[in-house]
Amino acid sequence: GPPERVTIYEVGPRDGLQNEKALVPVEVKAEFVRRLLAAGLPVVEATSFVHPKWVPQLADAAELMSTLVADLGDLARNLPVLVPNERGLDRAVALDLRHVAVFASATETFAARNLNRTLETQLDMFAPTVARALEAGMDVRGYVSMCFGDPWEGPVPLQQVVAVGTRLLDLGVGQLSLGDTIGVATPGHVQALVAAFTAAGVPLDRLALHFHDTYGQALANVHAGLAAGVTTYDASAGGLGGCPYARSATGNLATEDLVWFLTGLGIEHGVDLDAVVATSDWMAEQLGRPSPSAVVRALLDG
Ligand code: HMG
Ligand code: MG
Repeated sequence: GPPERVTIYEVGPRDGLQNEKALVPVEVKAEFVRRLLAAGLPVVEATSFVHPKWVPQLADAAELMSTLVADLGDLARNLPVLVPNERGLDRAVALDLRHVAVFASATETFAARNLNRTLETQLDMFAPTVARALEAGMDVRGYVSMCFGDPWEGPVPLQQVVAVGTRLLDLGVGQLSLGDTIGVATPGHVQALVAAFTAAGVPLDRLALHFHDTYGQALANVHAGLAAGVTTYDASAGGLGGCPYARSATGNLATEDLVWFLTGLGIEHGVDLDAVVATSDWMAEQLGRPSPSAVVRALLDG
């Protein structure tokens, strides 16, 4: 049967905001993170220490994290942040942060567009980054993007995804998050990819699933992941999000949609739905447009 308990890994402040054109003030971002933590989300990925020219929205990463550390102390130091390379890691270490995530591509084209690297040389960038983070006692997550399809290359072979994922695990990443960056996955494909990792010897508790809801398949895909035994799911409050270097990577799976779905299945998650909805409603006001989440809209209208 499905797991009794699931971990929701909130990516709203990072994946949700990274694509927003209008700059969101750092104080609004800090309040967004505080509200998400108060709603019971166990993990809130806060920002990215990437090149500010590549993702201008997150150029305030250091300021955001020092604001949060001043306010919340160790709770803030434990919030994960993205770091693509050693320069990003240096910036996280300077603030004594404890959880970082590297992000790889399963395809050649997206490695070039998102990281300015090849499929092979992205790993040369991650190897010293992960090694130094582990030496510093940090926890490291590894994302793989374009696991189910790529806007330039089309379908992505399962073994190509497994090859990149297992190399990240070999570098020492603790958890691997498999990203459907452009939202094209369907449940049979999810089942097949998880089975391919299992066949490669990767334990289920090392895997997380990261769905974008572009084609409205995200919850069906979660259902397939649950049936396969995966217990960590990434989601973004209000369904904010996308990726600046992936055409049509709109809309992460909304945290509220995931919470409603898990509650219906009797699966524990520890998140206060009303508090997340109120947060997304508040954030929608800041951004000047309504949340795309069906559950947010239904609960606010009702
Ligand atoms: P590059 O231009 O090849 O960088 O970019 P470089 O290593 O050649 O360095 C060039 C200059 O940038 C140097 O400065 C570095 O110091 C500086 P200079 O010496 O010329 O003055 N630099 C930095 N500055 C600040 N922070 C840094 C940093 N790194 C270098 N970390 C790089 C390579 C990886 C940096 C760039 O391509 C980049 O920042 N990419 C990030 C793109 C991104 O953030 N994408 C979105 C996140 S991924 C995602 O959303 C997918 C996910 O949600 C899962 C899914 O849905 O699939 C995770
Ligand atoms: Mg994403």
